[in-house]
Amino acid sequence: MNPWEMSGEIKEQDYPKLIKEFGAKIIDDKLLNELKKFTGELHPFLTTKLFFAHRDLDTVLDDYSKGKEFYLYTGRGPSGKMHLGHLLPFIFTKWLQDKFDVDLLIQMTDDEKYLVRDIPMEEIRKNTHENILDILSLGFKKEKTHVIIDSEQSKILYNNAILFAKRLTASTAKAVFGLKDSDNVGKYFFTSMQAVPAFLLSAIKGRNIRCLIPYGIDQDDHFKLARDILPKLGYYKPSAIISKLMPSLQGSGKMSSSDPNSSIFLDDNEETVRRKINKYAFSGGRDTKEEQRKLGANPDIDFAFNMYRFLEPDQTKVDKVYSEYKSGRMLSGEMKALSADAINAFLSKLRSRRESIKDDVDSYMFDVDRFK
Ligand code: TRP
Repeated sequence: MNPWEMSGEIKEQDYPKLIKEFGAKIIDDKLLNELKKFTGELHPFLTTKLFFAHRDLDTVLDDYSKGKEFYLYTGRGPSGKMHLGHLLPFIFTKWLQDKFDVDLLIQMTDDEKYLVRDIPMEEIRKNTHENILDILSLGFKKEKTHVIIDSEQSKILYNNAILFAKRLTASTAKAVFGLKDSDNVGKYFFTSMQAVPAFLLSAIKGRNIRCLIPYGIDQDDHFKLARDILPKLGYYKPSAIISKLMPSLQGSGKMSSSDPNSSIFLDDNEETVRRKINKYAFSGGRDTKEEQRKLGANPDIDFAFNMYRFLEPDQTKVDKVYSEYKSGRMLSGEMKALSADAINAFLSKLRSRRESIKDDVDSYMFDVDRFK
């Protein structure tokens, strides 16, 4: 696995091995309790271990408890339209931002998608704009959320990226990402762009500020390199909170944009959502109604239940559904109906927020002067 290529699929039991290989740490109960001291509650992505690993999250919390600030950074490669799976990491990032009330940088890597995919620049530009609206419709705080579009912030990004690039050799990039001589040189350079937001606020403010990056495990190579190189530039190693690949409708592999039935898109209408959930959602239920009544379902692997659990704000409701479904009192059909309702309610809220911020996107764009 590398950021640009996935061969095969990752199974649940592979994750601990991967993490060991990568040198990150599992988020254990002790760290969860530490985090809970600041957040008051734990997001379902933490309790379900969707976000399951970290690098130096403990250091961020330690420093924070001593009154030292940090900021959040995450991003998206605007390769196409967004589905629910794409949005999940942003839901989690927003939760962190709300709990800690910190600045957040969101990088849109239009340059990356041009370099690594076969998509015309105009199409990427259009996706970038649409994706930003999708992300912002989650309701991020305006004063503290700063969207960086690589091609539009090229001056400040480039001037910092070259500091990074000077310390990254082609042979390292080649080894880390499995690049070949026939790969374009842009790919060799790109990590230098993705690393910049991890030290950008420190660079602008002229003092070291910790950066915590929520990301999917497929992005780990970039940030491992950043952890090697940032100290050489005089900055902190970036900290990370790492997720598994987002669950797909069909239960295995990740949600993919190329197969329309493997994902729920943000612009799917209510009927389509219901149909996809009914027809394709991987079920933890039994084959027959009788068996289900007798043996109950396995909610933890059930796509419909998991989406319900992620999107339903009322935890007591979620707990009740969990035990109803697990015991067999609730059938898969009912579970799917509940889930589709929750998804539709969520999407409809998203759409109305999207409408209301449509003309205000500019005020979320990164502006150096706000940090000086
Ligand atoms: N490379 C990521 C992608 O293809 C986008 C990205 C940029 C990102 N910066 C990030 C993702 C920081 C997570 C964290 O989607």
